[in-house]
Amino acid sequence: MAVLSASVAALTLASAAFAASPATNGPDLTLTPAPAQATMGQGTFALTARTRIFVAKGDVEARVVAGQLSDMLLKARGLKPAVVEGAPPAGEAAIVLARGATSSDKAEAYALSVAPTGVTVTAAKRAGLFYGAVSVWQLAVQDAAKGPAQLPAVAIDDAPRFAWRGFMLDSARHFQSVDTIKAILDAMAAHKLNVLHWHLVDDQGWRLEIRKYPKLTSEGAWRVPAGAAGRDPKTGKPIRYQGFYTQDQVRDLVAYAAARGITIVPEIEMPGHALAPLVAYPQFGMTKTPPRESMGDWGVFPYLYKPSDETFGFLNDVLDEVMDLFPSPYIHVGGDEAVKDQWKASPEVQAQIQALGVKDEHGLQSWFIQRAEKHINARGRRMIGWDEILEGGLAPNATVMSWRGVEGAVAAASQGHDAVLAPDSTLYMDRRQSASADEPPGRIKIVSLKDVYDFDAAPAALTEAQRAHILGLQATAFTEHMRTDERLETMTFPRLIAVAENGWTPEARRDWKSFSDRLPAETARLDVLGVAHDTVPYEPQATLRPADGGRVSVALASGLGLGEIRYTLDGKAPTKASGLYETALAVAPGKTVRARTFLGDDALGRIRDYPVSLLAANTRNSHQLELCGDGINLSLEDDAPLNGPRAVFAVNLMNACWVWKGADLSSPLTLTARIGQVPFNFQIGADKAKIPLRAPATPEGELEVRIDGCGGQRIAAIPLGAAARGPGLATVAGVLPKQGGVHDLCLTFTARTVEPTLVLDQVTLTPTKTKT
Ligand code: ACM
Repeated sequence: MAVLSASVAALTLASAAFAASPATNGPDLTLTPAPAQATMGQGTFALTARTRIFVAKGDVEARVVAGQLSDMLLKARGLKPAVVEGAPPAGEAAIVLARGATSSDKAEAYALSVAPTGVTVTAAKRAGLFYGAVSVWQLAVQDAAKGPAQLPAVAIDDAPRFAWRGFMLDSARHFQSVDTIKAILDAMAAHKLNVLHWHLVDDQGWRLEIRKYPKLTSEGAWRVPAGAAGRDPKTGKPIRYQGFYTQDQVRDLVAYAAARGITIVPEIEMPGHALAPLVAYPQFGMTKTPPRESMGDWGVFPYLYKPSDETFGFLNDVLDEVMDLFPSPYIHVGGDEAVKDQWKASPEVQAQIQALGVKDEHGLQSWFIQRAEKHINARGRRMIGWDEILEGGLAPNATVMSWRGVEGAVAAASQGHDAVLAPDSTLYMDRRQSASADEPPGRIKIVSLKDVYDFDAAPAALTEAQRAHILGLQATAFTEHMRTDERLETMTFPRLIAVAENGWTPEARRDWKSFSDRLPAETARLDVLGVAHDTVPYEPQATLRPADGGRVSVALASGLGLGEIRYTLDGKAPTKASGLYETALAVAPGKTVRARTFLGDDALGRIRDYPVSLLAANTRNSHQLELCGDGINLSLEDDAPLNGPRAVFAVNLMNACWVWKGADLSSPLTLTARIGQVPFNFQIGADKAKIPLRAPATPEGELEVRIDGCGGQRIAAIPLGAAARGPGLATVAGVLPKQGGVHDLCLTFTARTVEPTLVLDQVTLTPTKTKT
């Protein structure tokens, strides 16, 4: 920590005082990340069309930052303050970007004073000036309105908690436009995030132009998506999914990021996650013909680089071009999930293990990574890798990115190495943000905004000295299930904002209530920044169930449980004055429940409309059913249709099985199921043989229904017929005979193969009309 202990003590005391006397003057401070220290003042500063920004004569950096602030205010509020060199004339309420010492000596530190008479940002370094300007921008953008703004008077003394406040973008599984990446960089900068870790290479695609090896992109940058998504339905011809970034585009992005205080750390995976480069240049791999068709799969693949001098010639050439393009002090070499089977099976590699005197394949991976490190260090850069680089011995100067929990960071720090916290349990953005079926596809496990906010970046397992090795933290977006740029953004925001606060704000100043109270302002800022962001966890979700007297019980709850829910039944848009939702409503079929969440006076999220019917009350989609156990539990998108919206199924691919809790079988029920099929494009090695298959009795298989557990009595087997053939959704129906009483229903499919896997989309249970 570069902050002097005296100023840490001062900050601690000041924040205690601040917490004890919340702001009473003017609007509350909505800055996110919350500043290290802030004291509210009297009144407001009026930002108008006439406001000007002053910088010292000849201070080129300050002039550039002033121009950036002016551009940001133009985009947000339609005001473009003029940038002027010199001091403001007496009596002019202006914005001043000034050089001066701050109480922290970190380059990103700044002080900000906002008063009715003027705004002053003071910083020693350009980074501090920029973050001061970002804070001014945030104070001017607390809603989505255009035109003049009132900035609350405040005195701020601010510096980051951590040096590494990052976001990892996977452009290999799905490819994003340069404009999207710039929008993400803008949103990162607006929240004082400073590292974009760019995952440019994986089994599914190589996304970076390398001049010396053109086939990396001409061959390695395209694949055919699995299933129906990879075939033209008219011609049956394969559809290629492709894309890569040219070196000119990369230079442009690196400069764009740098102007916003962001370092782009490139990642070139080795020795595994390497199918795409090996399809292009098989001579550097362990098999002569790596399967191009597998590039449409997800999972952990067996294809490794050959640990040979030729391979290092190639990798060093690649790293040289990478280091020419990216000035980042850190170069990421991956190192994760390199399944060692190919090295185990090769007599040549086994002989090499003997000759090198390393213990085993882990030792060989360590030797491999150390060779890469030597090359990177020789150019004055530092190597970082995923926590598997600890296995077999850490390279001498390596930094560890801890993704399998924080244990990798603990191990690295206890060996005196630096580490970045990126645990998949909390900081992976491919997990859903709430249980709603309206969330974008992703992993079923929920990591809510609050879970991310509550992440503890100071693990108790570390001593104070070891904690000094924690460079910071980062959110990670692996994009297997983020087919569009909009989905990537929706999965990333607002959770990345919670990471920003976790990375910047002193632990003593972090507070979920304060953070969540700022979400209406944050929502407006994300809108202004033009990045998609998830509002579903704020919004009322309805659970409809049949109730007495032909009515329907409508229970409302939001994923995050913030604020209060207001609703109407008369078709009008709910307002702050509408009925307060307290307990489940009994609603007559035909009405629509319209509901919205309010936090204080602000609406949070969209109005949600729930048309009420007995059919809806008797229907559950796959996300409202229970999955059978933990395996590969996904909210998985259908592979059809090629264009237009696709269904999203909740499924455990290791045991495709769903439970309807509490079906009343005191009389017979008709079960109607909408079903789909998904390609099993998952590389899971030997685990594939563990997936249970139930033998079909009819050619296309059946939907089987059991009661009281999935090993319980089978009460129906509904033949699927043509409905099983796909692509797309189809409906089947059958009768569940009377059993007496209430039972849980276990729903499974029979099938000879997992390719494709049959999945449930939704199920309806209605009383069977019996002859009397
Ligand atoms: C990783 O998730 N394989 C780093």
